[in-house]
Amino acid sequence: MHTLITGAASGIGKATALRLAKRSSITIADKNGDGAKAVAHAINAGGGKAQAFSVDVTDPAAVEALVADTERDLGPLDALFNNAGINLRGPVLDIKEDEWDLMMNTHARGMFLIAQNTLRGMVERKTGMIVNTSSDFAVIGVPNLGSYCAAKTAIYAMTKALALEFAPHDIRVNAIGPGPIDTPILRQNRKPEEIEASLAANAARTPLGRLGKPEEVAATVDFLLSDRASYINGQLIQPNGGCVIW
Ligand SMILES: NC(=O)c1ccc[n+]([C@@H]2O[C@H](COP(=O)([O-])OP(=O)(O)OC[C@H]3O[C@@H](n4cnc5c(N)ncnc54)[C@H](O)[C@@H]3O)[C@@H](O)[C@H]2O)c1
Repeated sequence: MHTLITGAASGIGKATALRLAKRSSITIADKNGDGAKAVAHAINAGGGKAQAFSVDVTDPAAVEALVADTERDLGPLDALFNNAGINLRGPVLDIKEDEWDLMMNTHARGMFLIAQNTLRGMVERKTGMIVNTSSDFAVIGVPNLGSYCAAKTAIYAMTKALALEFAPHDIRVNAIGPGPIDTPILRQNRKPEEIEASLAANAARTPLGRLGKPEEVAATVDFLLSDRASYINGQLIQPNGGCVIW
């Protein structure tokens, strides 16, 4: 098996790369090239097979080259985990156009570009599995996270459309909707003095009373990218400690 994971230099993507490496070759793609190399090094040192690419998922030429290069080196892609993401907070009245574009480009455009390039080969081979990282916030509104909510809902919407369009080719496409997971993104664009209170507030809003671990999300993705999930398609699966129940 060969799996491409974006945003795999850190957090959820990294935990998933380390877990899946036990049964798959891993292509690690991240705009943080040094972080990507470190994860690939850890996998290779542990007896797995991994390759790192420094790629911005919003760049069409870079994404096309990524998929072509890694399929040449490690073979056809069986699985894709579209996971790169960022967080920007603030009142909608203060969002700048370039911030809106960065949010939508990183999540919606990035997911689309990677999926399109990967799906071409999957369709030819009539097999494939894709998981896209959406969020709990795709299905609930959250103040001061307008652009993030919009981007994550776009990913969920595209997941449903892809699931229906590619099911005839035996390709399954699902989304995950994590709750608050203890990764660097929860600290991103926050003042240092705000971080502890914000982490505590996130833990408190979770019925299980704690933040999730990246490894707990990795376990969900591992399941979805396996035959154990062979009849799960077009779903939003939520490792969220019970934060959103609907
Ligand atoms: N941590 C949470 O609470 C949480 C909850 C719901 C959803 N998510 C989503 O999970 C995904 C992973 O986030 P995480 O929590 O592991 O955070 P993280 O910051 O640890 O990891 C995100 C990774 O994405 C990479 N990235 C960002 N923009 C990129 C780009 N344009 N091209 C390539 N790589 C890029 C970063 O360099 C980083 O390595 C994101 O999509 C995030 O929105 C996280």
